[in-house]
Amino acid sequence: MEPFVFTQLAARMVFGTGSLQLVAQEADQLGGTHVMLVHDAMAATAADTVATQLGSRLAVRWDEVAQHVPIELAERARQTATDGAVDLVICIGGGSSTGLAKAIALTHRIPILAVPTTYAGSEQTTIYGLTGERHKQTGKDHAVLPRTVVYDPALTVGLPCQISAASAFNALAHSVEALWATGCNPVTSAIALEGVRLIAHSLPIVVAAPGDLAARGDLLLGAAFSGMALGATAAGLHHKICHVLGGMFNLTHADAHSVVLAHVLAFNAPALPSEMDRLAQALGVPPGDVAGALWDLAVASHVPIKLSDLAGTGGPLQRGDLSLVADAAAAEVSTNPRPVTAADIFGLLEQAYDGLRPTAKTVARSGH
Ligand SMILES: NC(=O)c1ccc[n+]([C@@H]2O[C@H](COP(=O)([O-])OP(=O)(O)OC[C@H]3O[C@@H](n4cnc5c(N)ncnc54)[C@H](O)[C@@H]3O)[C@@H](O)[C@H]2O)c1
Repeated sequence: MEPFVFTQLAARMVFGTGSLQLVAQEADQLGGTHVMLVHDAMAATAADTVATQLGSRLAVRWDEVAQHVPIELAERARQTATDGAVDLVICIGGGSSTGLAKAIALTHRIPILAVPTTYAGSEQTTIYGLTGERHKQTGKDHAVLPRTVVYDPALTVGLPCQISAASAFNALAHSVEALWATGCNPVTSAIALEGVRLIAHSLPIVVAAPGDLAARGDLLLGAAFSGMALGATAAGLHHKICHVLGGMFNLTHADAHSVVLAHVLAFNAPALPSEMDRLAQALGVPPGDVAGALWDLAVASHVPIKLSDLAGTGGPLQRGDLSLVADAAAAEVSTNPRPVTAADIFGLLEQAYDGLRPTAKTVARSGH
């Protein structure tokens, strides 16, 4: 066994159906007396419940959130937090709500209590992102790690099937890439593999029966583990590509993950034989074609599999945009299990653009 260092991030997890009822009590433990409640439109009912629990401790309610946290939005929310003398942010919603809470915590150094309603996993990381002129800037700061996370699977039951499945692929990507990302070690790999196992087991059930609360619980726990795995390691090639796609074209974050993951995996697989074996076991698929099996899972889950099907604020992604994405992603990638150039990234993006099933043969053709 190689020597390693693992730092456990200090966050409290409260997990269980109905745990929404415990939010105000958890907020008390964090000393919240002037609470800012951030939520997206879909979480309005859950936010109503929490607002009632908080009573006079609720200082500000904020329901404007946007993907990738535009800086202008963050600045307005921060000013509102200042005006309300806010000492705790509670966020209810997907990664976009958590992201806005993180933007506030970053400047105001106040704790976050997160109540996630998707599988994005941001609530388990010290990573924040802010988007300016077509560029998403990410950084790490312990101040943005939610101090308490309340997971209530009942809140995810209303998440539409396609958003659920794409979001689950976002979570899968965290765990998959954590198996070889900078900072990975036996602890993070154990967490990541359990995340993969839970997601692979529960996702087909959720797709077939979105109201299955037990499967929703397993998927949410798998997503929590995946967020922990991402939070304890570093973003690799796959995440860099997705951040560029999100920052440059404002593509839906989870959709970008569902399209790109299998192609990055196929590219890196030849350099990762033992990781692929363990991944195959966790996914419950035969070894040898893990990337293909992930692509099959994406098809069976009805998530996007073609970049050409994705559109952002400027309309559909064009084939001519791929070289821009490849260059920007290549400039951001510092380590990868095998050497990777902008041309390699362009090759795998082309396959993703056309929605081709990745195979070892395709990788060999597009390689160096
Ligand atoms: N910092 C990190 O560690 C990290 C990790 C993962 C993702 N992210 C960020 O999170 C963002 C994406 O998060 P996301 O994929 O959760 O998207 P999101 O928060 O934008 O939510 C996606 C959609 O689902 C809806 N929704 C959320 N919960 C719902 C529910 N329970 N029922 C019905 N509808 C619901 C939302 O209203 C929205 O329309 C991106 O900006 C991404 O960069 C950050």
